[in-house]
Amino acid sequence: MGQGSGQITLRAPSNIAFVKYWGKTGRQYPINPSLSMTLSHCASTCRIAYQRRAGGPILASYVFEGTQNQSFQSRVSHYLESITDICPFLNDLSLSIDSENSFPHSAGIASSASAFAAIAYGVAQIKVELGLADAADMPRHASTLARLGSGSAARSIGGPYMIWGQDEGGEGVDDYAVQLPAVHSSFDTVKDAILLIDKKQKDVSSSVGHGLMEGHVYRDARIQQANANFNALLAAMRHGDWDGFGLILEAEALSLHAMMMTSTPSYMLLAPNSLKVMQRVKQFRQETQLPVYFTIDAGPNIHLIYPAQQAQAIEAFITSDLTDLCQDGQMIIDEAGKGAHVIA
Ligand code: DP6
Repeated sequence: MGQGSGQITLRAPSNIAFVKYWGKTGRQYPINPSLSMTLSHCASTCRIAYQRRAGGPILASYVFEGTQNQSFQSRVSHYLESITDICPFLNDLSLSIDSENSFPHSAGIASSASAFAAIAYGVAQIKVELGLADAADMPRHASTLARLGSGSAARSIGGPYMIWGQDEGGEGVDDYAVQLPAVHSSFDTVKDAILLIDKKQKDVSSSVGHGLMEGHVYRDARIQQANANFNALLAAMRHGDWDGFGLILEAEALSLHAMMMTSTPSYMLLAPNSLKVMQRVKQFRQETQLPVYFTIDAGPNIHLIYPAQQAQAIEAFITSDLTDLCQDGQMIIDEAGKGAHVIA
C-alpha cells in the first residue's frame, strides 16, 4: 500500500429508472435488465477521509448533514465489511465519511442510489490512488461496488443513460451498469420534473419489495415483460420515437406498482394525488400533443419526463395544473446528467 492515508470528495447523482429493476437474486444481481436516466441536480456529495487502521472498525464515523447517523452508519459499515473480499485493502484502513444531499432530506426521494454511488466511487478511487487498481477500470469497478450497496446505485456511476442487467440483445451485464451508447439526438437534453406528492418515508422499503418478487405469482411474466420493454424502449430512444418511448415508460411504472399490489402480502405506495397527476398529464397530452410522460419509482412521487426543447409549455402546465397536487406545492426540476465524479 502507498502512503496509506488521504482524503477524497466525490459527487454522485440520483437516477430515475425507465425500465425498472424489480427483484434480485444471489449477490445483488437483478432478475431483469433495467435502463435509467442519470440526474444532474439531485446528488450526494461525500467526503471520505482514510487512514491506516490501528484496530477498530473499518467505518470510524458516518456523518450525514452534520449529524452522526446511526442507522445509515450501520448499513454502510455492513456494506464496507461485505466488500472486503473485492477490496481487501479496506481491512487495513479506517474511513470517516461525511455525506450530504442536494435535495431535501424529507422529500421522499430515494437517496440510497446517490449515497452508495458516491461511497463506492470513493472506495474504487482510493484503490486506484493506493496503486491497487487501474484507473481505466474505474467506472466498471465503481459500478460493481455500488451495486453491492444498492442495486440502482450501479447506474448512477455514469450517464446520461445507463443499462444494467443481462438482456436478450447482449447490451448489458449483471455485474455492473454500462452507458447506453448512441441515442437519438432528441434524447440529448431531457428533463425530469419530480412532483413531491407525499414526502413522508415510505411504509415498505424497496429491499422488502424486491424480496416479495421471489414467490410472486407474476414473477416470470414480469421478467418477460421487462425484457420486451427494455428492447422496445431502447429502439424508441435510438429512433427518437417519443410516442413509443412514452407508452413503455408509463407501462413500466404502472407494472412496478401492479407488482406491489399483487404481491403477498400486497401493499400500495401510490397516493390519491399520484393518480390525479397521471390523469391530468394524459389529458394534457391528448389536448396538446406535447411529449410529456410519467414514471414512478417505489413511492408516491411522480417523475415527468420530457425533451428540454418543449420545456417552456410543459413547465407552464406543471406550474399551473399540477403543483396544487404536490405536498406544500413542492417539485424539483432536474435533467439528464453525467454521473459520479471526483470533486477534490
Ligand atoms: C423501484 O436499488 O433501492 O427504484 O438494491 O435493495 O438497494 P436495493 O434496491 P433499490 O431498488 C430500486 C427499485 C426501483 C427501480 C429502479 O431503480 O430500477
